[in-house]
Amino acid sequence: MKRIGVLTSGGDSPGMNAAIRAVVRKAIFHELEVYGISYGYQGLINGDIKKMELGSVGDIIHRGGTMLYTARCEEFKTLEGQQKGIEQLKKFGIEGLVVIGGDGSYRGAQKLTEHGFPTIGVPGTIDNDIPGTDFTIGFDTALNTVIDAIDKIRDTATSHERTYVIEVMGRHAGDLALWSGLADGAETIVVPEADYDMEEIIGRLKRGQERGKKHSIIIVAEGAGTGFDFGDRIKEAMNLETRVTVLGHIQRGGSPTGFDRVLASRLGAKAVDLLLEGKAGVTVGIEKNELVYHDINEALAKKHTIDLEMYKLSQQLSI
Ligand code: F6P
Repeated sequence: MKRIGVLTSGGDSPGMNAAIRAVVRKAIFHELEVYGISYGYQGLINGDIKKMELGSVGDIIHRGGTMLYTARCEEFKTLEGQQKGIEQLKKFGIEGLVVIGGDGSYRGAQKLTEHGFPTIGVPGTIDNDIPGTDFTIGFDTALNTVIDAIDKIRDTATSHERTYVIEVMGRHAGDLALWSGLADGAETIVVPEADYDMEEIIGRLKRGQERGKKHSIIIVAEGAGTGFDFGDRIKEAMNLETRVTVLGHIQRGGSPTGFDRVLASRLGAKAVDLLLEGKAGVTVGIEKNELVYHDINEALAKKHTIDLEMYKLSQQLSI
């Protein structure tokens, strides 16, 4: 293999730049040529492809977002779109591809591999919902952004003695909600992976009130319902002054944490090593601090779950 490509796709996540840097530098270290594909699969279809040099990735390790830009591409879900992408790869003489993104991006990588084009997935999403890795690139940064926001909300919640419902991202995944809730001592955490009982949530808030608790924090993952809906239900049931904050896309930005930069550097470099070893259709990950890789089909077939022990613990600590 002489020439590889790299793209970022789907929702961006802090640390994607560090991963691109690792792919480019590791490839050049091994005397490969690297091409950056802008705007994810859309850019691949359109031939938005440029050669990258060592300096192309200078001064980006600490920056959020992705220097290669990103997109969600409907056309690449079709056979025609995939064939157009492969034609472009051939035109540029690219023999292997690293795709940095979440589960949607992995489906594109899976298709490319099925069509015989060696592709490696690097997990980049704030949702932490890719099977085959304990952590995805960007999760730790987003978690710390959420924690920072909740700490601030807690100050005003205390001053005004209010109940706050905070909606965090996670269309199908509750990791951000669970980890930030545990880190911030939230009274209730609602995640899409576990059933919740509104009566129980109200009961918990009431017991707190009876003990003299003057404010409460409830964290809702967007995949489990809207913060506003939970806010209304609590207000109605308890006649409590309630405020709702939807943290939104603020969670996707910002300078990556040290953890995410190191994770991105390790996973990006590993993806290049795997291409050089002739691997295709695999996803890299980290499990118990060891770099691992799994068949992308197997990873995608698994359903993401939260750590149920941690969920139980959060309930035990917020009695
Ligand atoms: O996949 C990551 C994610 O941040 C989800 O948590 C969220 O639902 C979604 O992206 C939002 O995507 P968009 O940027 O298209 O609004």
